[in-house]
Amino acid sequence: MAHLLSTSYSVKLSSGCKPLIQNSIVFPKFVSFQTSKTPFTSQRSQSSCTVRATTLSANREAPNEPSQGIHQTSSEPSKSKRVMVIGGDGYCGWATALHLSKKGYEVAIVDSLVRRLFDHQLGIDSLTPISSIHDRLRCWKALTGKSIELYIGDICDFEFLTDAFKSFEPEAVVHFGEQRSAPYSMIDRSRAVFTQNNNVIGTLNVLFAIKEFGEQCHLVKLGTMGEYGTPNIDIEEGYITITHNGRTDTLPYPKQASSFYHLSKVHDSNNIAFTCKAWGIRATDLNQGVVYGVRTDETEMHEELINRLDYDGVFGTALNRFCVQAAVDHPLTVYGKGGQTRGYLDIRDTVQCVEIAIANPAQAGEFRVFNQFTEQFSVNELAALVTKAGKKLGIDVQTTSVPNPRVEAEEHYYNAKHTKLIELGLKPHLLSDSLLDSLLNFALKYKDRVDRKQIMPSVSWRKIGAKPKTVTA
Ligand SMILES: NC(=O)c1ccc[n+]([C@@H]2O[C@H](COP(=O)([O-])OP(=O)(O)OC[C@H]3O[C@@H](n4cnc5c(N)ncnc54)[C@H](O)[C@@H]3O)[C@@H](O)[C@H]2O)c1
Repeated sequence: MAHLLSTSYSVKLSSGCKPLIQNSIVFPKFVSFQTSKTPFTSQRSQSSCTVRATTLSANREAPNEPSQGIHQTSSEPSKSKRVMVIGGDGYCGWATALHLSKKGYEVAIVDSLVRRLFDHQLGIDSLTPISSIHDRLRCWKALTGKSIELYIGDICDFEFLTDAFKSFEPEAVVHFGEQRSAPYSMIDRSRAVFTQNNNVIGTLNVLFAIKEFGEQCHLVKLGTMGEYGTPNIDIEEGYITITHNGRTDTLPYPKQASSFYHLSKVHDSNNIAFTCKAWGIRATDLNQGVVYGVRTDETEMHEELINRLDYDGVFGTALNRFCVQAAVDHPLTVYGKGGQTRGYLDIRDTVQCVEIAIANPAQAGEFRVFNQFTEQFSVNELAALVTKAGKKLGIDVQTTSVPNPRVEAEEHYYNAKHTKLIELGLKPHLLSDSLLDSLLNFALKYKDRVDRKQIMPSVSWRKIGAKPKTVTA
């Protein structure tokens, strides 16, 4: 099958720069680079996971003085706090890790690099040329004097996670480390199973690691607004007070997830809520909206710090995808009627929200839920905004309606609350003409890297089957 890669993949570190890790990294078997019937095995034997915590910079000394451009701000933590960023090589995680490092937190990235593997398997690539995690971190250290520790491995391997926890002793864990594409989870049975196994077991392991090795550690978990679905009433932040047959209670807001990926997030939320109650874990579930944009103050500092930007039919999200489509004169692909409305936020606000959550931790035993988005738009509204922004740059943007590959309401009521992060100090970057200009210009800069074959949706919710499927030609 084209989406399967063959056995034993190992990453050698580039030798051009000062070596930071001596060993080569062997991916755990579960990410199955084997030509078996399924791309991923759902049973991960701990002994088969050969990656141990490999630390880029294990020292806890005060970082060197920044060599350029970084100034402490009043929002810096008075005492540096150790924050583990799981999934720190990904889109949101990379930007967040740099932001927290700049703000004076001691940061460790934990990542299996499986997201880069998905790209190889599906034959897709980020619009932006992203450097290896090692080169990224070397560049960050060279520019700022700040070290970020690196643990490469799979959080579903509890032994690996234990090593990382014991070595780094995090005071907060930000958990981005999941398979995050709804279409990916709907490709075939094996991807559905992988997604739920990866996400649910990974999160369970994080909960056990906190219980065993860091009881006071605050879990900041990335959930998604997609957990709620599109109910015909206002969406509250996590809980709703209901009066039924004369009795009143405040209950978890009903969840109506619409893909195996979104369902994995619901399972995560339930497991976290339970362990807060049972073990006294302190947790914040950030139900994030769709993130757009690519630049943050930190990723802008050097080409090698550039973040990934997905535009393909599997990992590309609305708005980012539309801007890339506009840049290469591809019609904007609106699924169905285009009335699908969701919450959105700028990636600069993702990093801000996470920082706010860490700085204001949940109480022991508290399961706190924040809806993390700043504005809501329908797909048609986004298409209109990109069309207008394109006109200013002399691009004649067309829109086409394609059959909706998903099973979802295409016209519906949507009004989701999002006040808690604002109350804690979030200063939103609202979607503006200038942001759209810059995103479009960014897409134009890298348009030669666009593979037009990857643009159209290729995964159907209704046609998902048990047979492993090759997505691209
Ligand atoms: N991007 C969005 O618009 C968006 C919207 C809502 C919620 N979220 C949530 O935010 C989080 C991050 O999203 P993203 O867009 O940065 O995704 P991403 O795919 O770019 O990054 C996820 C990272 O986690 C790593 N990872 C996955 N499974 C792992 C495992 N078992 N062990 C260790 N590392 C693992 C991947 O290698 C990758 O680097 C996800 O949980 C996602 O559900 C994202």
